[in-house]
Amino acid sequence: MSRPRIVVTRRIPQPALDLLAEHGDVWLSPHDRPLTREELFDAVKGADAIVCLLHDAIDDEVLDAAGPQLKVIANVAVGYNNVNTKAIESRGTVWFTNTPGVLTEATADIAMSLILMTTRRLGEGERVIRSETPWVWSMFYMLGTGIQGKTLGIVGLGLIGQATARRAKAFGMEIIYSGRRQADPAIEAELGAKYVSFDELLETADVVSLHCPLNDETKHLINADRLAQMREDAYLVNTTRGPVVDEQALVDALRKGEIKGAGLDVFEEEPKINPGLLELENAVLIPHLGSATIETRTEMGLLAAKNTVAILNGEEPPSPVVRVS
Ligand code: DGY
Repeated sequence: MSRPRIVVTRRIPQPALDLLAEHGDVWLSPHDRPLTREELFDAVKGADAIVCLLHDAIDDEVLDAAGPQLKVIANVAVGYNNVNTKAIESRGTVWFTNTPGVLTEATADIAMSLILMTTRRLGEGERVIRSETPWVWSMFYMLGTGIQGKTLGIVGLGLIGQATARRAKAFGMEIIYSGRRQADPAIEAELGAKYVSFDELLETADVVSLHCPLNDETKHLINADRLAQMREDAYLVNTTRGPVVDEQALVDALRKGEIKGAGLDVFEEEPKINPGLLELENAVLIPHLGSATIETRTEMGLLAAKNTVAILNGEEPPSPVVRVS
């Protein structure tokens, strides 16, 4: 029997490639960049499995280019706004998987880092030192905001939202959250978290941290009106996906002092950055580092590889999103 063809659209950690290679013939992109559409169409031709990354748009055209033998698309990311799951579902023959759980702690670390960086003005401070700007300690120099006793508003209390809340609680913050569903009472009790409406969360939180997935409902969830609802001394942190925030509206709100600061790990058109953001001292900007630890990326690659192998072997994958019945 011929071995399955497994297409990996960009290099992933070696243990994941090794696992895939035990179970099929792996084609790995030779480029250290996202494939162009044409390259992607060429690469996936005849694939039984496609292991893709968050910058690959997976849609009907890609499914057509792959052909009817395709069995699985494994996204090496928990977020899958890059994938048209309806197109996959409608085929009825292709599984789709993602990588939940393994990047929870790393991403929550970055959310907490951004909370501290924005409230304590750490980006600004670093820029002062690196630009050799003269400075001297004084009682009133570069004062930030303490977070102890302040309220963190979590938008979407999923695994990453919970892990962020856990950290913030350890720093002495009170937790409120909003979302489509109220969390399990045991989780609420552990975090001391109170379920509130989105309006109440925006109007009362000292820090709003976004943890909802990007989809049609959450695109520009934070827009000019929502920013205007936030307190003038509040901060916004985004570690989910850039388009959840209307970036130009955020620039305007930061310029006008409608909110006090923002910490962003993700951007609306990343890797492009809205030039307005670059001019703002009160915006902390980091390049989509949420899951960027050696350990986490290895686990993400391995989970995607395990999903792929399970499906190729006719077994239940660990983390399916679209199933084939
Ligand atoms: C994900 O998995 O969705 C993350 O954004 C990757 O860093």
